[in-house]
Amino acid sequence: MPALTVCAVPPSMPSTLISPPKHVNHIFIRFIILPAMRIRFVTSNQWKFNEISEACRRKGIEVEWVRMKYEEIQADDTEEIARTSCERVSAQLGSGFFLEDTGLYVGGALGGFPGPYSSYVSKTIGNAGLLKLLEGKERGGAYFLTVIAYFDGTVVRTFRGGILEGTIADAPRGSNGFGFDPVFIPSGHSRTLAEMSTSEKNMISHRSSALSRFLEYLAGRGGNGKAVHGQ
Ligand code: IMP
Repeated sequence: MPALTVCAVPPSMPSTLISPPKHVNHIFIRFIILPAMRIRFVTSNQWKFNEISEACRRKGIEVEWVRMKYEEIQADDTEEIARTSCERVSAQLGSGFFLEDTGLYVGGALGGFPGPYSSYVSKTIGNAGLLKLLEGKERGGAYFLTVIAYFDGTVVRTFRGGILEGTIADAPRGSNGFGFDPVFIPSGHSRTLAEMSTSEKNMISHRSSALSRFLEYLAGRGGNGKAVHGQ
């Protein structure tokens, strides 16, 4: 994988410049990421790929889609699921890839369900079943959590995204997105995620905030995210 290049330029300089002129003063330091990086993202989900690649494109990073299904363990923790999946996939793919796991946690009567069981619930009862479970019950809030797991060739590192808080709608709305998007209304919004475009969702989402943390880490490592054992 080519290295992520970070260099210093004055604030007035367009970030599309490949290399700053020699007279650049150190006082005007800011960091830009040059468009040389390519990283592999493992998922069988077209929507997840669309969101990740749109967010990366904005930062000049190209994402290679490794379209692959993998077995997920059943566990109580989203981070453990992401980490274990990544360890398993690493045997096949080697280094320099990431994947993610996401859970929807519904408060009130559901007490955080389905959380790490979101995939199973989505496949079995789906949005209609989830709404049925909430009928006549105290709703409370809900949130999404995404954890990214990255294998650098030595260790698997995980990056927990911010939480996207919201509420569950009374009925599904919208035709974009996937999974629970049609029934999830982010806090401060009146539309469901399925009524938003990919870029609108990326402005606020659990997935894009996990991605930002991951990309910050890669940038800090000169792009290859090479880990030190036990760090
Ligand atoms: P996964 O295990 O990470 O694939 O996610 C579990 C389930 O949550 C998936 O089957 C999706 O239906 C749902 N899901 C994951 N991410 C999102 C999202 O961003 N919006 C809506 N539903 C999602």
